[in-house]
Amino acid sequence: MKNFLPGPTEVNPEILAELAKPVMGHHTPEFRDLISQLKSRLQYIFGTENEVITLTCTASAALEAALVNTCKEKILVVSNGAFGERWLQAARSRGLASDGLVLGWGIPIPPYEVRRLLDRVPYDTVVMVHGESSTGMLNPIEPISELLKAHPEIVFIVDAVATLGGVELQMDKSRIDVLVGASHKCLALPPGVVPLGLSPRALKRSKSAKQKGYSFDFNLWAESWHENKVVGTPAVPQLQAMLTQLDRIQDESIQVRWKRHKNMQELTIHWAEKNGFIPFPPEDYRLPSVSCLRPEVSRATSPIVAALTERGFLIDSGYGKLKGRTIRIGHMGDWTTEDIKGLLDHLSQVST
Ligand SMILES: Cc1ncc(COP(=O)(O)O)c(C=O)c1O
Repeated sequence: MKNFLPGPTEVNPEILAELAKPVMGHHTPEFRDLISQLKSRLQYIFGTENEVITLTCTASAALEAALVNTCKEKILVVSNGAFGERWLQAARSRGLASDGLVLGWGIPIPPYEVRRLLDRVPYDTVVMVHGESSTGMLNPIEPISELLKAHPEIVFIVDAVATLGGVELQMDKSRIDVLVGASHKCLALPPGVVPLGLSPRALKRSKSAKQKGYSFDFNLWAESWHENKVVGTPAVPQLQAMLTQLDRIQDESIQVRWKRHKNMQELTIHWAEKNGFIPFPPEDYRLPSVSCLRPEVSRATSPIVAALTERGFLIDSGYGKLKGRTIRIGHMGDWTTEDIKGLLDHLSQVST
């Protein structure tokens, strides 16, 4: 079965073989050496000189940890899809005072609305989703980071779960304070390990955070990683596999990887336009790692997905309220344009 889900995505056999190696102890010199090597490689894909760590959990748990580590008085969550809505719900369920700029799914974020809110309310934390995989939408970071230049006290959290390692993103250049990635999307690793970038502003804020607890205390983690140590026993085999994959990414180069994702996206969009599907987000806001396509003439998409599965290809029939009405294709990770052409050939045959 070839996995073109929008995550978890296909994992290369070379990486799967790494997972089968003997498990090293997490207090050994070998493991400390592993952490040391992971740091420089993660900084490379994050585009940062900040502290980087990995947490062993879901990306949602890591994002929730970011909220409790950084919120002082009030959070603004900017949302135009399922994951933006999830972060607002997570903040509220934690009892953190939060406002949402909640737009319709697939509606681009208007920077003037964000500016209006920032001028009116003294938010200390702003959250946005870079790649909204529920709608296949790319939310440009730059207009929001520009606005935040006038608000040096605000901690900027970015959900880069569906973009880290596949879509252009530079933590330092974009003034991002907490960048939450994922192993199981563009990095093409198994799920369960979350790479995070933490700026000095985020770490300073976390020092006085009251609800952060122990296991997800960002300062404790950053200090530990700084010394090539960890807090608790992490997913050691996953980290061993991560090092091999990050080496493969460095060999490819991050810029070439971004371009490969764009090329796969272009093929998919071109196919959609020729085969009676419309990309869900407007042009200029389409995600290089995940496409969400809806049929021009409304019809159920589950039979298409099922027919494709019979042919050995996994894609998805939509997320949340779009389930059964769209198809979502993950053109990410280690897939190539040739692989996407193969998938789209079969898709043409089952979708007419
Ligand atoms: C953009 C985005 N954010 C967050 C998540 C949540 O990740 P997890 O399922 O690891 O909690 C996902 C998962 O699909 C996602 O695509």
